Amino acid sequence: MLGEACTTHHIDVTDEQMNLFVSDLMGHMTLREKIGQLNLPSGGDITTGTVKNGKLSEMIRKQEIGGFFNVKGIDKIYELQRLAVEESRLKIPLLVGADVIHGYETIFPIPLALSCSWDTLAVEKMARISAIEASADGINWTFSPMVDICRDARWGRIAEGSGEDPYLGSLMAKAYVRGYQGKNLQQNDEILSCVKHFALYGASESGRDYNTVDMSRLRMYNEYLAPYKAAVDAGVGSVMSSFNIVDGIPATANKWLLSDLLRKEWGFKGLLVTDYNSIAEMSSHGIAPLKEASVRSLQAGTDMDMVSFGFLNTLEESLQSGEVTEEQINTACRRVLEVKYKLGLFDNPYKYCDTLRASKQLYTTEHRSIARSIASETFVLLKNEKSLLPISAKGKIALIGPMANARNNMCGMWSMMCNPSKHRTLLEGMRSAIGNKGEVLYAKGSNIFYDENREKTATGMRPLDRGDNQTLLKEALQTADRADVIVAALGECSEMSGESASRTTLEIPDAQRDLLKALVKTGKPVVLLLFTGRPLVLTEEAVNIPSILNVWFGGSEAGDAIADVLFGKVNPSGKLTTSFPRSVGQLPLYYNSHNTSRPDPDKNVFNRYTSNYLEDSNEPLYPFGYGLSYTHFQYDNMVLSSNVLKKGEKLTVSVIVTNKGNYDGCEVVQLYLHDIYADVVRPVKELKDFKRIFLKKGESREVRFVITEEDLKFYNSNLQYIYETGDFEVMVGTNSRDIQSKTFFAE
Ligand code: BGC
Repeated sequence: MLGEACTTHHIDVTDEQMNLFVSDLMGHMTLREKIGQLNLPSGGDITTGTVKNGKLSEMIRKQEIGGFFNVKGIDKIYELQRLAVEESRLKIPLLVGADVIHGYETIFPIPLALSCSWDTLAVEKMARISAIEASADGINWTFSPMVDICRDARWGRIAEGSGEDPYLGSLMAKAYVRGYQGKNLQQNDEILSCVKHFALYGASESGRDYNTVDMSRLRMYNEYLAPYKAAVDAGVGSVMSSFNIVDGIPATANKWLLSDLLRKEWGFKGLLVTDYNSIAEMSSHGIAPLKEASVRSLQAGTDMDMVSFGFLNTLEESLQSGEVTEEQINTACRRVLEVKYKLGLFDNPYKYCDTLRASKQLYTTEHRSIARSIASETFVLLKNEKSLLPISAKGKIALIGPMANARNNMCGMWSMMCNPSKHRTLLEGMRSAIGNKGEVLYAKGSNIFYDENREKTATGMRPLDRGDNQTLLKEALQTADRADVIVAALGECSEMSGESASRTTLEIPDAQRDLLKALVKTGKPVVLLLFTGRPLVLTEEAVNIPSILNVWFGGSEAGDAIADVLFGKVNPSGKLTTSFPRSVGQLPLYYNSHNTSRPDPDKNVFNRYTSNYLEDSNEPLYPFGYGLSYTHFQYDNMVLSSNVLKKGEKLTVSVIVTNKGNYDGCEVVQLYLHDIYADVVRPVKELKDFKRIFLKKGESREVRFVITEEDLKFYNSNLQYIYETGDFEVMVGTNSRDIQSKTFFAE
């Protein structure tokens, strides 16, 4: 421990002890100090020079903030915490937040990729390691998990969530919360988690960030809310409201959402924080200028104002004029203090400021090796004609493409806490794997886009060196000419997904697409390693390229992890959690859609007066749940224990899965249900369970699922959560398209 605790208190958290403690403390606080607790500024511009005497330090001394975020470095954080507990009147410790989204210094794959592992234990492990590292560096609060369901790949933030499915998304949400918060927040490596963005942010119209959301309650309840609720059920300590409107009112000030649903219906007792500056932005939204927006936000149930300073600068006046009550301010203040209490900060404000830990627990060999193995679980093999992959680690391999040696582009969005200079590029990973058994030749091959300005916009803060378009192509072809096999490392650069990275086209960027065509023309076998933060449109590539391995943004260890899969040390097992469209015109696109009154009778041809398109089928190019392996899994003998599910009883579905190929491997066996007739139109299929199994080559296993009436439930038109008796279809398969099905009757 580095310093003395300023306020001592016993660590056993019971509600009663906490209430007494917080009430006592609040009894000593001025109105200004209480409002100060509701203020959460960014410390992004703090430097060693300003840490003691900057704007933030002044506010801390005056107890005008409840916490801050965006500061990296234990020394700075320690000093800021010291100011709070040694140089302020009541010595109240600070929350220290950060966007620790998929790792801290050890970076794991982006969340969308993580979800494609379908491995909740791996996700929990990654959150645990993130918490260990972040807390070792002074952070006690992470703005994660992001659980917004997204069905539109144009939205750049699809990269930050777990895809399109509410069931899988809920399991992932719980795994993140368990990993970050640990058992009970008492250990110094257990940190507060914040589920976001509440709610429906992923349904922004036309995939444009911050855009309008408009949705029926029925759809919210059945299709979008489950992952937030799952995080609440898992005990998440904080919730962040979203930028978008819900029923016409910004989430930031939506009383129905924040109080009626979240607090009353779901029983959430923790801290509610706004998103970045969103109280102030209610003015641009056309709701109200800052003062009134602050009133509305507090009244709706917000506790903490991120960055806008609306609470700090206007609530006193609004209290005087009677627009808010002291009770409302007290309630919010109490929630901030309770979270600090639960974190044990009153017992030891330096709990997360152990500099010894910072020197020992960041980017460790152990964390890196776990990140490497988790990364290889997230890659999705989209195509593998004639088993071109894995390639043998010998001979001459041409690695070509702007992602092949792009150190700053391996991690994806929200990875600003890491040090890319320590990471291996793909080229380095492949060279280290192949050793002296062969040779990896390299050429950059192309820019991201032909046009320099376009590339500048796309690469943002992480620019790549540019070369002359013609010269790059020439070098690529010369390199390819000398090789036996070509590995093309192409796709989006990391800043093309994440916040404020919406797109209207989803093809591989122009210069790279042409490069790929030129490489195919050489007649040599081509493997496409696709780097992306979202589904891309690969309609042409799916025809012309023999093997496509989607590696997303795999994190700090991606260079080695990709080499592991490329050379067959690891057999890929990732399965898509987001549908890959054939064209942008199909969006939004998702597997758990509704049938129309005129379903498309034949997926391959246009059918007039049915629900389809003139140019293309309704089907995705690669469906939800899809992903190949180096081996082949055969599904036989689906059996239902009965064709009637009696009330209060169970039904078992079993299927025999056999590994028929030449590699040991993991398979995700998926179970879907369809309610054939119901009060409201139900999805054509919904994921209800899955099992991730490992089978040695030649091995067979019976996989069993249990269905109970819980699995049949949905929200009806009165928003009652019920099931209806009648016929159901149950489907089992390797993805949402390739399934076997049977029907049963639920009594
Ligand atoms: C994002 C949040 C993030 C916050 C703080 C906002 O722009 O929407 O996801 O947690 O910034 O960095």
